[in-house]
Amino acid sequence: MFPLERPRRLRRTESWRRLVRETRLTADDLVYPLFAVPGEGVRRPVPSMPRVAQCSVDVLLEEASRAWEAGVRAVIVFGVPDPGAKDEAGSGAYREDGIVPRAVRTLKDALPELSVWTDVCLCAYTSHGHCGVLTDAGSVDNDATLPLLARAAVAYAAAGADAVAPSDMMDGRVEAIREALDGAGHPQVPIVAYSAKYASAFYGPFRDAAHSAPSFGDRSGYQMDPANRREALRELRLDYEEGADVLMVKPAGPYLDIIADARAAFDVPIAAYQVSGEYGLIMAAAVHGWVDERRAALESLTAIRRAGADLILTYFAPKVAGWLAEEGA
Ligand code: PBG
Repeated sequence: MFPLERPRRLRRTESWRRLVRETRLTADDLVYPLFAVPGEGVRRPVPSMPRVAQCSVDVLLEEASRAWEAGVRAVIVFGVPDPGAKDEAGSGAYREDGIVPRAVRTLKDALPELSVWTDVCLCAYTSHGHCGVLTDAGSVDNDATLPLLARAAVAYAAAGADAVAPSDMMDGRVEAIREALDGAGHPQVPIVAYSAKYASAFYGPFRDAAHSAPSFGDRSGYQMDPANRREALRELRLDYEEGADVLMVKPAGPYLDIIADARAAFDVPIAAYQVSGEYGLIMAAAVHGWVDERRAALESLTAIRRAGADLILTYFAPKVAGWLAEEGA
């Protein structure tokens, strides 16, 4: 009898499809990025990211509460200081009363069970927009940047952050941050390392949201070349050996091979960041009716899980949590 194998048998009904589904997306897997700005009562929509806004801390709490109600269990906070408050050394990133520590305290006070992560980088705070301080010749000074990142991580941990996530791509920063956290009495705070972070065009909308575009040059002197796959394993290994608790691949959708490699090579949780441009592409097509937002978002996130990511940072988080609840997932 031809055909001998009939895979369609197991696809015939919705019950069968659910029974044999290999990958599941749940709200527990999602981390929601938030942008904190100074002031009060501020809610400034980001034009290139529909439904995403820069919020003052009071409004940020409303946003985080809504996400929590929808089932989201973790957020990652990005600070966006006033343009006039930036300086060469990015000091706003590591001030103890800076925008991120204030946001963390407010969120943790009101929502103690919410896992509050903090991005650790200088780019939103430096006048030149690079992720570290500059040498006299104008290149990013790796070793001079490390103690500043470590200070930022300690300030966020002291405010109550549940994780610090260095996204700067300086060499050696995980070890520098681990030592500083332990030395300051925060050995319990995990490091979620942006380990394989590529110099990607897909960060475009984020740089609008965080006002963090470099004023000269680009980030290809520290972020990875999109053409490289083996090198990602090296970056992941270094962060793992330096003590990272979670390893991250970023962006996610165009880098599923890297996520699969990371999953196969390491025994720590793997996170993937579905970045602003990935969100933007789906949203831009969705507003024209060219793709169905819900199906495209769920499919893109399921693919990231299928490739091997345990956790996904995504701007779709609260929406997806709502959709999954509707589906009884
Ligand atoms: C900071 C940082 C960036 C993103 C996260 N942390 C931007 C960059 O490296 O330029 C991008 C996130 C996104 O695009 O959603 N270094």
